Amino acid sequence: MNASAENGKRLSAESALKLVEPGSVIGVGTGSTVRWFIEALGRERGLIEGAVSSSEQSTALLRQHGIAVLDLNAVGPLELYVDGADECNLQRHLIKGGGAALTREKIIAAASARFVCVIDGSKRVDVLGRFPLPVEVIPMARSHVARALLDLGGQPVWRDGVVTDNGNWILDAHGLAITDPVALEARINQIVGVVTVGLFAARPADIVICDGERILA
Ligand code: A5P
Repeated sequence: MNASAENGKRLSAESALKLVEPGSVIGVGTGSTVRWFIEALGRERGLIEGAVSSSEQSTALLRQHGIAVLDLNAVGPLELYVDGADECNLQRHLIKGGGAALTREKIIAAASARFVCVIDGSKRVDVLGRFPLPVEVIPMARSHVARALLDLGGQPVWRDGVVTDNGNWILDAHGLAITDPVALEARINQIVGVVTVGLFAARPADIVICDGERILA
């Protein structure tokens, strides 16, 4: 990771902090950009009542920073969700799941009124798909789903050794030029054995902050 990309992530995360309502419960994503956001939250001790976490990794970080981690079922719909992405197009459609946390991330995005995506400039693309598309699968369905992804024109690669927080496996589909993200998300969701596809298009981000600047909303 070069220094300017890391700086872009930090600036975006710190800028997202300005959108947090004091006393609220917010959704918190996963990854190196969100790590900056959690650090910033930690410096503003007492700013939020607590957070719903999208991964065991973020749960540990939140607790290290003295932030209460709450159950989504107990706190209901959220006003704000802050998370990173692996790619983002002009329509605010995203590829996510590079950190294997896509399922809980998609649940929190669905349960949130506002999804703020924090990225650095390297994540912006015209057409999604240069970053291999992560798909979380039930382990016994791995080969079945891989064949279906091949039929869709992708080259699936098993992320061998990775087990998600939900006990599942990840296939990364290489070589897809995703010109219709909403349709492809729906199509992959229909493959039996797929838990979640890392396309966030039916529910895109509402706001994108890139290198600290609000660019798409
Ligand atoms: C985690 O599964 C992902 O969806 C992350 O949000 C995404 O990979 C972005 O991560 P970075 O902020 O580390 O680039």
